[in-house]
Amino acid sequence: MEGKFIVTGGNRLNGTVNISGAKNSILALMTAAALAKEDVLLNNIPLNSDVYTMGEILASLGVKVVFQGNTVIINGATINTYKPPYELVRKIRASVYAAGLLLARLGHTEVALPGGDEIGSRPVDLHIRGFQALGAEVSVEHGFMICKCSKLTGAKYYINKASVGTTINMMIAASLADGVTILENPAKEPEIVDTAILLNGMGAKIRGAGTDTIRIEGVTELHGCEHSPIPDRIEAGTFMIANAAVGGEIQITNVLSEHLRIPIAKLREAGAEIIEGDTDLVVKSTGRLKAVDVDTAVFPGFATDLQAPFGVLLSQAEGTGIIRETIFDNRFRYIEELRRMGADVKVERDTAIFRGIERLSGAPVEATDIRAGVALVIAGLMADGTTEVSGIYHIDRGYEHFDLKLKNLGAVIERIS
Ligand code: UD1
Repeated sequence: MEGKFIVTGGNRLNGTVNISGAKNSILALMTAAALAKEDVLLNNIPLNSDVYTMGEILASLGVKVVFQGNTVIINGATINTYKPPYELVRKIRASVYAAGLLLARLGHTEVALPGGDEIGSRPVDLHIRGFQALGAEVSVEHGFMICKCSKLTGAKYYINKASVGTTINMMIAASLADGVTILENPAKEPEIVDTAILLNGMGAKIRGAGTDTIRIEGVTELHGCEHSPIPDRIEAGTFMIANAAVGGEIQITNVLSEHLRIPIAKLREAGAEIIEGDTDLVVKSTGRLKAVDVDTAVFPGFATDLQAPFGVLLSQAEGTGIIRETIFDNRFRYIEELRRMGADVKVERDTAIFRGIERLSGAPVEATDIRAGVALVIAGLMADGTTEVSGIYHIDRGYEHFDLKLKNLGAVIERIS
């Protein structure tokens, strides 16, 4: 049922919040795990709805998927179909990883063009060219990507744009290919490295993940293993920004600050105090920060997934802050909602200019994607009065108990159905 968050602003955040395993990693890890015909155990998984959707997609292919608390067991021995159902595939963008899995295991896949967030055009041309480079015949017919090959063969593939999804799909597909695959200009996000570590633990031969060239030597079979994903850097960044914007002092545990270099630098530049520990961070803020400028970029740059929360922070900062969104072409939709709360923001193509105001005022707003959703909740915590955030299934897609974690920090937030 469609739910809402009722958020009352004004309370500072205090206390400790523990970060879950990375959502974007686990979606890749679950698919990669299904390459093996033995049990792969993934621990510390985040219990959000995208993870369950990925579980359903894999199960629909015949993969054994068993959730036990924060562990999921995956075994691809019984994969028996090349076509996951459209109704599941359309729910998450990462469903496109099923294509790499099925090509590697069955040499045939028919996957609906994926869905996901309303954050801009999200083509799969780079995935298709990658599969073609490995020798697959690919066509797009009636909204389906149809790929066939007798056996994938290693090849050199220059990825035109350093795409996260393409890099993961290529690592999955090439792990069981004949010969060596070289990926040039791959994405370097920590989730890529995490996926390579899992695959290597399963017996794959991948070198260079996290650098400008990845070398994948195909093997004939992969085996079972146990793995825990990296902490969710986007969830950690969301709480850092929330605390910086709202004020207070929080400790964030299970976080790797080397995954958040630029967001930490930007928050410090804006006036928040951040103390880095080995696997934790303390954020202190008085709540009114100075405006700063941010360009989103591929890792290690400022993550596009933190752009909306940061924009919300700028809406109440002192001065004028400019955000340039360089990754997706429609990621400012939250700004229309933020304006309903009184924000003064001008958008010109890929650039948003935030003129900070004293205080947002609570209003009914709608989440249009995962990160826009959490951003609007943060806006509600900063605002005067009460904010009603609808469309919160988007937030539940990517965050485990976002409302409860905030509540534990002293936020006033209620979920109503
Ligand atoms: C992943 C993340 C998402 C994050 C994004 C960028 C998951 C499940 N999602 O999405 O949270 O915001 O990385 O860090 O991990 N592109 C093409 N052709 C393609 C593929 C991509 O033109 O075939 C473009 C996209 O439209 C976009 C850019 O490349 O402009 C980056 O996309 P990509 O890195 O592939 O993002 P996703 O893997 O979809």
